[in-house]
Amino acid sequence: MGLLDDRTAVITGAAQGIGLEIARRFLAEGARVVLGDINGEAAEKSAAELAAAHAGGVALGARCDVTAEDEVDALVRRAEQEFGTVDVMVNNAGITRDATMRKMTLADFRAVLDVHLVGSWLGTRAAGAVMRERKRGSIINISSISGKVGMLGQTNYSSAKAGMVGLTKAAAKELAYLGVRVNAIQPGLIRTAMTEALREDIWAAKLAEIPMARAAEPAEVAGVALFLASELSSYMTGTVLEVTGGRYM
Ligand code: NAI
Repeated sequence: MGLLDDRTAVITGAAQGIGLEIARRFLAEGARVVLGDINGEAAEKSAAELAAAHAGGVALGARCDVTAEDEVDALVRRAEQEFGTVDVMVNNAGITRDATMRKMTLADFRAVLDVHLVGSWLGTRAAGAVMRERKRGSIINISSISGKVGMLGQTNYSSAKAGMVGLTKAAAKELAYLGVRVNAIQPGLIRTAMTEALREDIWAAKLAEIPMARAAEPAEVAGVALFLASELSSYMTGTVLEVTGGRYM
């Protein structure tokens, strides 16, 4: 018995990093997983690898740019057509375009808001429409601790990630009576391609702020996503769970 037996989960930005680990964990708990990513080939490859590693596991990869309304709608529709339902939606796709405001262009501000905030809204709307019909579902928005405290050089990213908290709470209120829960996760410093790019001195400064004195592996975020996706969190909606090793508690 898995925690997500007979459930279908759609995860955006799942070709690598945190999204891929969430897909791996959900699959291990019995879910059918649909991996969307702007890099469609990478999503298909990751899905094939996941399925091969889990006997009987069902994983499907597809191109989906979360900033494109038709592509997000198509991804959710594809999951519903293939598997009959969408029970879990994880809005995880993300990018960074860090710069101080002196150097940040409007295009880079908008690009980051578009992927994180607009993308999550599109995913929440599309999945919510399917879930409300079935009176069941869990939507998980991957925000960031940057959305709680604001990070230097990240006016775009911090705005988007804080916006995702507002989105989570408002959508939670709209969908609660329909049996659909909406929650957010705010990861801190997680080892992925996104943070590998950080300068060594910046990495060290971040580590110094973490009471647990280490970065996390993507699987440690996936465990919390599993909790929110499953019935273990059946009475939780509109919450924001911090996965930060105690940083900025
Ligand atoms: P990553 O860079 O390893 O993976 C991000 C994925 O999103 C990539 O596969 C990329 O192709 C995809 N993507 C980018 N733009 C897209 C678009 N328009 N449509 C669809 N897919 C798109 O990053 P990571 O670290 O796995 O991040 C996942 C999420 O976790 C992001 O939302 C990020 O902001 C968030 N996060 C990450 C933290 C970290 O320390 N790594 C900390 C806090 C939050």
